[in-house]
Amino acid sequence: MRKNIVAGNWKMNTTLQEGVQLAKEVNESLKSFKANCGVVIAVPFTHLASINDVIDKNLLGLGAENCANKVSGAFTGEVSAAMVASTGANYVILGHSERRQYYGETSETLKEKVALALENGLTPIFCIGEVLEEREANVHFDVVKRQVEEALFELSAEDFSKLVLAYEPVWAIGTGKTATDDQAEEMHAFIRNTIAKKYGKEIADNTTILYGGSCKPSNAAQLFAKPNVDGGLIGGASLKSESFIDIVKAF
Ligand code: PGA
Repeated sequence: MRKNIVAGNWKMNTTLQEGVQLAKEVNESLKSFKANCGVVIAVPFTHLASINDVIDKNLLGLGAENCANKVSGAFTGEVSAAMVASTGANYVILGHSERRQYYGETSETLKEKVALALENGLTPIFCIGEVLEEREANVHFDVVKRQVEEALFELSAEDFSKLVLAYEPVWAIGTGKTATDDQAEEMHAFIRNTIAKKYGKEIADNTTILYGGSCKPSNAAQLFAKPNVDGGLIGGASLKSESFIDIVKAF
Protein backbone atom coordinates (compact mmCIF):
# COMPACT_ATOMS: atom_id res chain seq x y z
CA MET A 1 0.00 0.00 0.00
CA ARG A 2 0.98 3.59 -0.47
CA LYS A 3 3.08 5.41 2.05
CA ASN A 4 1.90 8.38 4.10
CA ILE A 5 4.39 11.26 4.14
CA VAL A 6 4.67 14.62 5.83
CA ALA A 7 7.19 16.78 3.95
CA GLY A 8 8.43 20.23 4.89
CA ASN A 9 9.11 22.79 2.18
CA TRP A 10 11.34 25.42 3.71
CA LYS A 11 11.35 27.60 0.56
CA MET A 12 13.86 30.49 0.72
CA ASN A 13 14.04 30.58 4.50
CA THR A 14 16.77 30.09 7.12
CA THR A 15 20.48 30.76 6.93
CA LEU A 16 22.69 27.69 6.85
CA GLN A 17 23.20 27.87 10.62
CA GLU A 18 19.49 28.29 11.33
CA GLY A 19 18.64 25.50 8.93
CA VAL A 20 21.09 23.04 10.49
CA GLN A 21 19.65 23.90 13.90
CA LEU A 22 16.06 23.37 12.72
CA ALA A 23 16.96 20.05 11.08
CA LYS A 24 18.65 18.90 14.30
CA GLU A 25 15.54 19.81 16.31
CA VAL A 26 13.24 17.92 13.95
CA ASN A 27 15.59 14.94 14.01
CA GLU A 28 15.76 14.97 17.84
CA SER A 29 11.97 15.12 18.15
CA LEU A 30 11.57 12.20 15.77
CA LYS A 31 13.72 10.08 18.12
CA SER A 32 11.24 10.61 20.95
CA PHE A 33 8.22 8.86 19.39
CA LYS A 34 7.38 6.50 16.56
CA ALA A 35 6.06 8.48 13.58
CA ASN A 36 3.22 6.79 11.71
CA CYS A 37 4.37 8.24 8.38
CA GLY A 38 7.51 9.06 6.43
CA VAL A 39 8.96 12.47 7.28
CA VAL A 40 10.96 14.57 4.81
CA ILE A 41 12.42 18.08 4.83
CA ALA A 42 13.08 19.90 1.55
CA VAL A 43 15.65 22.61 2.11
CA PRO A 44 17.71 25.19 0.17
CA PHE A 45 20.55 23.74 -1.95
CA THR A 46 23.16 25.45 0.24
CA HIS A 47 21.95 23.48 3.28
CA LEU A 48 21.74 19.97 1.86
CA ALA A 49 25.22 18.58 2.54
CA SER A 50 25.45 20.03 6.05
CA ILE A 51 21.98 18.83 7.03
CA ASN A 52 22.68 15.40 5.57
CA ASP A 53 25.53 15.12 8.08
CA VAL A 54 23.39 15.84 11.15
CA ILE A 55 20.21 13.84 10.57
CA ASP A 56 19.37 10.16 10.87
CA LYS A 57 18.14 9.29 7.40
CA ASN A 58 16.17 6.37 8.83
CA LEU A 59 14.02 8.92 10.64
CA LEU A 60 14.10 11.89 8.30
CA GLY A 61 14.38 12.08 4.51
CA LEU A 62 16.12 14.99 2.85
CA GLY A 63 15.20 16.79 -0.35
CA ALA A 64 15.96 19.79 -2.54
CA GLU A 65 13.30 22.25 -3.66
CA ASN A 66 14.20 22.20 -7.36
CA CYS A 67 16.85 20.95 -9.78
CA ALA A 68 18.03 21.87 -13.26
CA ASN A 69 16.53 20.54 -16.48
CA LYS A 70 20.04 20.00 -17.88
CA VAL A 71 22.65 17.36 -17.07
CA SER A 72 25.70 19.62 -16.60
CA GLY A 73 27.71 22.33 -18.31
CA ALA A 74 27.45 26.03 -19.03
CA PHE A 75 24.28 26.85 -17.07
CA THR A 76 25.49 29.44 -14.58
CA GLY A 77 23.63 29.33 -11.29
CA GLU A 78 21.86 26.03 -11.89
CA VAL A 79 22.09 22.93 -9.68
CA SER A 80 21.78 19.53 -11.32
CA ALA A 81 19.93 16.46 -10.11
CA ALA A 82 23.30 14.65 -9.87
CA MET A 83 24.63 17.43 -7.62
CA VAL A 84 21.56 17.17 -5.39
CA ALA A 85 21.94 13.38 -5.17
CA SER A 86 25.65 13.71 -4.36
CA THR A 87 24.78 15.58 -1.14
CA GLY A 88 22.90 12.55 0.17
CA ALA A 89 19.43 13.94 -0.58
CA ASN A 90 16.80 11.48 -1.79
CA TYR A 91 13.92 13.77 -2.76
CA VAL A 92 13.36 16.83 -4.92
CA ILE A 93 10.28 19.04 -5.11
CA LEU A 94 9.48 19.76 -8.76
CA GLY A 95 6.86 21.99 -10.34
CA HIS A 96 6.01 23.98 -7.24
CA SER A 97 3.57 26.75 -8.17
CA GLU A 98 6.11 29.39 -7.11
CA ARG A 99 8.56 27.95 -9.65
CA ARG A 100 5.86 27.86 -12.32
CA GLN A 101 4.65 31.37 -11.50
CA TYR A 102 7.89 33.30 -10.85
CA TYR A 103 10.45 31.32 -12.86
CA GLY A 104 8.43 30.33 -15.90
CA GLU A 105 8.55 26.57 -15.41
CA THR A 106 6.47 24.72 -17.97
CA SER A 107 5.39 21.13 -18.43
CA GLU A 108 8.19 20.80 -21.03
CA THR A 109 11.00 21.76 -18.64
CA LEU A 110 9.38 19.82 -15.81
CA LYS A 111 9.33 16.69 -17.91
CA GLU A 112 13.11 17.01 -18.31
CA LYS A 113 13.58 17.68 -14.60
CA VAL A 114 11.52 14.64 -13.62
CA ALA A 115 13.54 12.41 -15.96
CA LEU A 116 16.87 13.67 -14.58
CA ALA A 117 15.69 13.36 -10.98
CA LEU A 118 14.68 9.74 -11.57
CA GLU A 119 17.94 8.94 -13.41
CA ASN A 120 19.81 10.15 -10.36
CA GLY A 121 17.76 8.13 -7.90
CA LEU A 122 15.82 11.07 -6.48
CA THR A 123 12.12 10.80 -5.68
CA PRO A 124 10.32 13.76 -7.24
CA ILE A 125 7.59 15.36 -5.13
CA PHE A 126 5.68 16.71 -8.10
CA CYS A 127 3.35 19.65 -7.43
CA ILE A 128 0.15 20.46 -9.25
CA GLY A 129 -2.73 22.80 -8.50
CA GLU A 130 -5.03 25.46 -9.86
CA VAL A 131 -5.12 29.21 -9.23
CA LEU A 132 -8.20 30.88 -7.74
CA GLU A 133 -9.58 32.12 -11.06
CA GLU A 134 -9.45 28.58 -12.42
CA ARG A 135 -11.38 27.20 -9.46
CA GLU A 136 -13.92 30.00 -9.72
CA ALA A 137 -14.32 29.29 -13.43
CA ASN A 138 -14.82 25.63 -12.51
CA VAL A 139 -11.91 24.44 -14.67
CA HIS A 140 -9.74 23.23 -11.76
CA PHE A 141 -10.12 19.55 -12.65
CA ASP A 142 -9.10 20.21 -16.27
CA VAL A 143 -6.10 22.27 -15.17
CA VAL A 144 -4.80 19.65 -12.76
CA LYS A 145 -5.42 16.84 -15.24
CA ARG A 146 -3.45 18.70 -17.90
CA GLN A 147 -0.55 19.37 -15.50
CA VAL A 148 -0.32 15.67 -14.67
CA GLU A 149 -0.75 14.47 -18.25
CA GLU A 150 1.67 16.91 -19.87
CA ALA A 151 4.59 16.45 -17.50
CA LEU A 152 4.20 12.86 -16.32
CA PHE A 153 2.19 10.66 -18.64
CA GLU A 154 5.07 9.87 -20.98
CA LEU A 155 6.81 8.07 -18.12
CA SER A 156 6.91 4.29 -18.08
CA ALA A 157 4.69 2.66 -15.46
CA GLU A 158 7.83 1.70 -13.55
CA ASP A 159 9.06 5.30 -13.44
CA PHE A 160 5.63 6.76 -12.68
CA SER A 161 5.36 4.51 -9.66
CA LYS A 162 8.46 6.17 -8.16
CA LEU A 163 6.77 9.59 -7.92
CA VAL A 164 5.08 11.36 -5.05
CA LEU A 165 2.43 13.89 -6.08
CA ALA A 166 1.39 16.98 -4.15
CA TYR A 167 -1.91 18.74 -4.84
CA GLU A 168 -1.44 22.36 -3.85
CA PRO A 169 -4.27 24.72 -4.76
CA VAL A 170 -2.36 27.95 -5.39
CA TRP A 171 -5.03 30.01 -3.61
CA ALA A 172 -4.30 28.09 -0.41
CA ILE A 173 -0.50 28.45 -0.41
CA GLY A 174 0.78 30.83 2.24
CA THR A 175 -2.64 32.48 2.46
CA GLY A 176 -3.96 30.84 5.60
CA LYS A 177 -6.90 29.73 3.43
CA THR A 178 -6.86 25.93 3.47
CA ALA A 179 -8.87 23.80 1.09
CA THR A 180 -11.58 22.05 3.05
CA ASP A 181 -11.00 18.37 3.66
CA ASP A 182 -13.82 17.65 1.21
CA GLN A 183 -12.27 19.86 -1.49
CA ALA A 184 -8.91 18.12 -1.01
CA GLU A 185 -10.48 14.66 -1.04
CA GLU A 186 -12.50 15.43 -4.16
CA MET A 187 -9.40 16.53 -6.09
CA HIS A 188 -7.18 13.73 -4.75
CA ALA A 189 -9.76 11.14 -5.78
CA PHE A 190 -9.94 12.76 -9.22
CA ILE A 191 -6.13 12.67 -9.57
CA ARG A 192 -6.02 9.03 -8.49
CA ASN A 193 -8.74 8.19 -10.98
CA THR A 194 -6.81 10.00 -13.73
CA ILE A 195 -3.73 7.93 -12.87
CA ALA A 196 -5.78 4.73 -12.82
CA LYS A 197 -7.07 5.37 -16.34
CA LYS A 198 -3.52 5.71 -17.64
CA TYR A 199 -1.48 3.29 -15.50
CA GLY A 200 -4.10 1.01 -13.93
CA LYS A 201 -5.67 0.73 -10.51
CA GLU A 202 -2.73 -0.86 -8.74
CA ILE A 203 -0.27 1.92 -9.57
CA ALA A 204 -2.93 4.54 -8.80
CA ASP A 205 -3.66 2.96 -5.43
CA ASN A 206 0.04 2.91 -4.61
CA THR A 207 0.67 6.57 -5.51
CA THR A 208 1.18 8.87 -2.54
CA ILE A 209 -0.74 12.13 -3.05
CA LEU A 210 0.05 14.88 -0.54
CA TYR A 211 -2.05 17.95 0.15
CA GLY A 212 -0.32 21.34 0.43
CA GLY A 213 -1.56 24.84 1.17
CA SER A 214 -1.82 26.29 4.67
CA CYS A 215 -1.74 22.84 6.24
CA LYS A 216 -1.10 23.28 9.96
CA PRO A 217 -1.47 21.44 13.27
CA SER A 218 -5.08 22.59 13.64
CA ASN A 219 -6.28 21.16 10.31
CA ALA A 220 -3.82 18.36 9.48
CA ALA A 221 -5.67 15.52 11.22
CA GLN A 222 -8.93 16.31 9.45
CA LEU A 223 -7.23 16.49 6.05
CA PHE A 224 -5.17 13.32 6.61
CA ALA A 225 -8.28 11.42 7.70
CA LYS A 226 -9.58 11.56 4.13
CA PRO A 227 -8.97 8.29 2.29
CA ASN A 228 -7.17 9.83 -0.69
CA VAL A 229 -5.06 12.34 1.25
CA ASP A 230 -1.76 10.62 2.04
CA GLY A 231 -0.06 13.40 3.95
CA GLY A 232 1.03 16.97 3.47
CA LEU A 233 3.56 19.30 1.90
CA ILE A 234 4.04 21.91 4.56
CA GLY A 235 5.45 25.40 3.97
CA GLY A 236 5.11 27.95 6.76
CA ALA A 237 4.36 25.42 9.51
CA SER A 238 7.54 23.45 8.71
CA LEU A 239 9.77 26.33 9.83
CA LYS A 240 9.21 25.59 13.52
CA SER A 241 10.01 22.08 14.69
CA GLU A 242 7.06 22.01 17.16
CA SER A 243 4.41 22.80 14.56
CA PHE A 244 6.00 20.52 11.98
CA ILE A 245 6.16 17.62 14.45
CA ASP A 246 2.57 18.29 15.53
CA ILE A 247 1.56 17.79 11.90
CA VAL A 248 3.56 14.55 11.77
CA LYS A 249 1.67 13.44 14.87
CA ALA A 250 -1.64 14.06 13.10
CA PHE A 251 -1.13 10.56 11.64
P1 PGA B 1 2.16 26.77 3.02
O1 PGA B 1 3.03 26.30 1.72
O2 PGA B 1 2.04 25.56 3.91
O3 PGA B 1 2.99 27.86 3.64
O4 PGA B 1 0.86 27.23 2.51
C1 PGA B 1 2.85 25.05 1.17
C2 PGA B 1 3.74 24.90 -0.03
O5 PGA B 1 3.89 25.87 -0.79
O6 PGA B 1 4.33 23.83 -0.26
